[in-house]
Amino acid sequence: MTQLTDRLVLDFAADVRRDLALVPKQLQSKYLYDALGSSLFEAICRLPWYRITRAERRLLDAHASDIIERLTRDSGRAVPLIVELGCGSGEKLMILAEALQTAGRAGRVHLIDISSQALEQSERTLGRLHHVSVVGHRETYEVGLRQAAAHREHGNPMLVLLLGSNVGNFDTPAALGFLREIRAALAPGDFLLLGADLVKPERDLLLAYDDPLGVTAAFNRNLLVRINRELGGTFDIGAFAHRAIWNAAEHRIEMHLESLAAQSVSIDAAGLTVRFGRGERIWTESSYKYDERQIDTMGARAGFTIAEQWIDDEARFALTLFRAR
Ligand code: AVJ
Repeated sequence: MTQLTDRLVLDFAADVRRDLALVPKQLQSKYLYDALGSSLFEAICRLPWYRITRAERRLLDAHASDIIERLTRDSGRAVPLIVELGCGSGEKLMILAEALQTAGRAGRVHLIDISSQALEQSERTLGRLHHVSVVGHRETYEVGLRQAAAHREHGNPMLVLLLGSNVGNFDTPAALGFLREIRAALAPGDFLLLGADLVKPERDLLLAYDDPLGVTAAFNRNLLVRINRELGGTFDIGAFAHRAIWNAAEHRIEMHLESLAAQSVSIDAAGLTVRFGRGERIWTESSYKYDERQIDTMGARAGFTIAEQWIDDEARFALTLFRAR
């Protein structure tokens, strides 16, 4: 198996082994994004009930030139470095790249994504531009950020993008820790653009994460398809159901995969046989929802001041431009 030479596959096996031994059983949400998972996520972004992507696009369309103006204001002709964590298809970065072009400026872009499909797609999209150079890193946020920051040159302004409510996958202490890591990669005066989904009525949240077309269910269950393929698992996909739950106390939507029967599953590459009781769940994702105050406080505690905050009131989504102190 040539795949076993891939470090990411070895990490996957080790993580699956560790996380399925936890109580409750878990799997990390970053593994949802294989090629099919990335395509399913893109389909989710087009669903009428999932409004994050369109809301963020509206805000970026309206404010990209402000953001670029602030980024380039004090730096003469220095070439800004823009780093996107979890670039997906690269469409959002495209909006900023176009604003950069309108401002008559060149730029350097580093894309970080765990999904090679997402990375290739954004490299293709952005590769057509002549005023920006593009480098992709197929890495986790933490490793990719370090690699990209190593390309920072003195005096060149840097902007980190953490969009699409990707921050929502971190629990509260981890989100703060990660914003601090971003801050540590920046110099005073640099920027972080954070897109975060806000708390909204439970009915809207459940429709967004358990849509009537079943696309989110497919996205969630595909994680088991991936384990079967990449790790030699024996999951019976039809024997697990998608569950989306609003955890009001924790301000998060949780996705789970619920075993519909007592069953046991083996996963060859993880050296594992796992037993499931009927109704037992694997917790596969948390999507934290914020209020404006929480976003501000988290940024402040991580070493940022707020330069601007724009809210889409229709979808209840916040785009915040932080400046490193
Ligand atoms: C890409 C992590 C922001 O949590 O809303 C979409 C992923 N999960 N539907 C989110 C997701 C279920 C999405 N993020």
